[in-house]
Amino acid sequence: VESLVIKLGGSVITYKDKPFQTRIHDINRISKEIAEFVNDYNLVIVHGGGSFGHYVAKKYGIHMGLPKIKLGLSILEKEMRRLNLIIAESMINHGVPVIPISPSSIMITKNKNIQAFYYNAILEAIKRDYVPLIYGDFVFDEDLGCSIISGDQLSLEIAKIIGAKRIIFCIGVTGVYNKDPKKYNDAKLIRNLDYKEIPNLIKNFSAAEDVTGGLANKLLVAYEAAKVGIQSIFINGLQHNLIKRVVRNEEFIGTIIF
Ligand code: IPE
Repeated sequence: VESLVIKLGGSVITYKDKPFQTRIHDINRISKEIAEFVNDYNLVIVHGGGSFGHYVAKKYGIHMGLPKIKLGLSILEKEMRRLNLIIAESMINHGVPVIPISPSSIMITKNKNIQAFYYNAILEAIKRDYVPLIYGDFVFDEDLGCSIISGDQLSLEIAKIIGAKRIIFCIGVTGVYNKDPKKYNDAKLIRNLDYKEIPNLIKNFSAAEDVTGGLANKLLVAYEAAKVGIQSIFINGLQHNLIKRVVRNEEFIGTIIF
């Protein structure tokens, strides 16, 4: 059975510029689509912070260490769990047997590098045909007090652990472009990308506003993944039936990074 990691980006599950607003119709549609193939794969679903996590992390400065306002960290975790619960409910209602797992409870970093990761529960869930549902989260950091681990980084770590050869990144646009498609109308979609071209490509990208570094950081994760033989596939998570097509190796429009 093939192992797969699916990352649901923040702009697929929330309205990125509206704090605490979920795209509930898209979440439900995705749950329904995943239910159609969940029994055929070993699956881990990871989701981002969107306008829950990024909003709160930025508000309290949690990406810069323990916040001055102590409760900020507690609020971040509470809001991420709230978003996670909304997704879990949707998945369960559509028949996807998810088990929510919080990274902050099973992981420690040191200067943002993973220092300890107690992932046994993830493996045990998969062994019993359950689907771990994980999310970008804060984690305690030995040097910085705390840090933010993105859903993208987690997707790569989990892909390594479960032996996945593909990570499917569902984002809010068609794929990876040679420049920002929201700023340039001559931006071109890159269908196939050799990871060695990534360092050169991200020179064109402007510094990201979100707490985990936006597209450039996503591509650096894809770079690290490709180096160890894991493909990253970027698709538009808002397009109907696309996840299923990619999972089943059917033709699709998006970006494959190898
Ligand atoms: C961010 O995770 C997690 C927090 C802000 C707590 P991601 O970086 O994976 O989130 P999205 O997909 O960009 O929203």
